[in-house]
Amino acid sequence: MNRRGFLIRTLLGLGAAPLVARLASASELSANPFSLGIASGDVTDDSVVLWTRLAPEPLEADGGMPDAGVPVQWELATDPAMSRVVRRGEVVATPGLAHSVHVDIDGLEPGREYWYRFVVAPYKTVTGRTKTLPQRDSQPESVRFTIASCQNYTHGFFVAYDHMVEDNPDFAIHLGDYIYDTSFGETFRRHETEKQPTSVADFRRRHALYRTDRQLQHAHAQIPFFTAIDNHDAVEDADPATSAQRTAAYQAWYEHMPVRGYGGIGENHFDLHRLIVLGDLAQISLLDGRQFRDGREVCANNDYPDYGFGNYRERCDLVFDETRSLLGEQQDQWLTRNLANCTSTWNVMASPGPFLPFRYAFDGKDLRYIGAWDIYPANRARVADALLGNRASHPLILSADVHSFWAIDGRDTPDRDERFDVTEFVSSSISANWPEPLAKRVTENLPNNPQVKFYEPNRRGYLLHDVTKTEWKTTMRAVQDVQDEKSPATDLATFVVRRGEGGFRRIKRS
Ligand SMILES: [Fe+2]
Repeated sequence: MNRRGFLIRTLLGLGAAPLVARLASASELSANPFSLGIASGDVTDDSVVLWTRLAPEPLEADGGMPDAGVPVQWELATDPAMSRVVRRGEVVATPGLAHSVHVDIDGLEPGREYWYRFVVAPYKTVTGRTKTLPQRDSQPESVRFTIASCQNYTHGFFVAYDHMVEDNPDFAIHLGDYIYDTSFGETFRRHETEKQPTSVADFRRRHALYRTDRQLQHAHAQIPFFTAIDNHDAVEDADPATSAQRTAAYQAWYEHMPVRGYGGIGENHFDLHRLIVLGDLAQISLLDGRQFRDGREVCANNDYPDYGFGNYRERCDLVFDETRSLLGEQQDQWLTRNLANCTSTWNVMASPGPFLPFRYAFDGKDLRYIGAWDIYPANRARVADALLGNRASHPLILSADVHSFWAIDGRDTPDRDERFDVTEFVSSSISANWPEPLAKRVTENLPNNPQVKFYEPNRRGYLLHDVTKTEWKTTMRAVQDVQDEKSPATDLATFVVRRGEGGFRRIKRS
C-alpha cells in the first residue's frame, strides 16, 4: 500500500490506528516529543515491533501532548546510515494510548540486523538497531543473549545496561520488575512521586520516569527485548478480574513496551507468554507467572505466620492441592506441549521466579519463598515431567526475581520428592537490592541446600548466555557499584553445561 492509501485508510479508521477526532502537527508540540527514546522487541525470524512514545513533557500526566492524534513516520533500513531503507510508513499516535507507537513489521529476512528511526518533522529520533531471530528451520552455529530483571530506579543507576550493550547480544529477555510500583529500602534516586501508582496516569508517569534514564534508553535502542511481567510491574495480588489498578498498570505497561498482543483499553488480560525459537539450536519458553496464578495468600493466617518481608512461610496443606496452578490451565497446556515436543538442542524455560526448591530452615520450620514455584509443587511437578521426560533435547532453566546470582544443580536437592535433574541459573537484578536479612538467611541455609553451587547476594548485574550445539555457557556479569554511573563490570563466574551431560562446571570465560 502506498503512503497516500495508508493515510486514507488510517484517517478512515481502517488501518491499525484507531479513528481520531483531530490531527495535530509538530507545530503544536512544546518541545522534541522523543524524550523517552525508541525500542524494538518481540522479534521472530521475520518480524519486529518498533516502539516509541511522544512526550515532550515526559513527567506530565498527558506527556505534554495535545488531545489529538499526531502522525509519526518510521523507517527501517539495512544499514546504520539509513541509506538503504527497505520499509517506511506512517502511523497516528493517539491520546488514548498516551501517543505511544507500535509498528509491527513482518516479511523481514531472518537472522539479520536492521536499523530504524521515527520522525515527526522537524524532530527525529536516534537510529536504533534491531535483529531478527535465526530462521525457524535453520541450523545456527551460535546465539548470544542476556537475561535481565528487577531495575529499581530508586536503588541505583542502570549502568549494567551499558555493559550489556557492549556484549552485543542478539536479544535480551527482561524477566520483570521493569518498574517498581513502590520504593523499598534505600532511596538513592527519587521517583517522580513517592506515591504508589493506581491510575493509568500514575503508571504512565512512573514508566516515563524510567524511560528518561539514559542507560536504559541506550539499551533499548541497541538490543531487541522480550519482556515478561512480575509483581512490581502490575500490582501484586490484585484480583485480575476486578482490579482497575491492575488494568491501568497493564495499559501503561503496553504503552511503554515494544510488544504485540495487547487486547485493548480496559482489557485486564495480556497475552505475554512467548515461544522464542532459535532455529534448531534452542527453544525458549518465556513464561507469564503473574496473570493466572492461584493466590499466594493461601496459607496466610495465624497458624502460618510470615517470617520476613511477606515472602516466607510454611506451606499449609492447600499448597499441595493437585489443581493449584501458577500458570493457569491454558498456559500450562501450552508450556507442557512445548517442553515435551521440543526437538531443539536446548530446551529452555525462562521463568520470572525461581523454579527449583530452596529450604529455609528457621525456628524448626521448613519455610518457603511464596513468590514463586515453591508454593505450586503440583504445577512444578507437571512442568518438570514434560521438561525432563523429553530425551531429544537438553533441559535448562533460567530465572530471576530474587536480586541475587545463583547456580543450581537440581540433582543434589536433598528432598527426594523435589529432586529434578536440571540446571537453573538465576540472574541478579539490574539495580534492586536484596535486603540484608534475606541475604543472610539464604547464606545460613546453604548447608541445607547442597544443590546451590553458587550464590552471590551483593552484586547487581545480568546473565550473558553463549549457546552452541555442544555447549551452553552462562556468565554472571556483575557491576562493581550500582551507585556509580560509570561502574565497571566483571565476570563474577562462568558456567558451562555440556549437551547430554548432567550438571555444569565452572570455568574462566575466554
Ligand atoms: Fe524484583
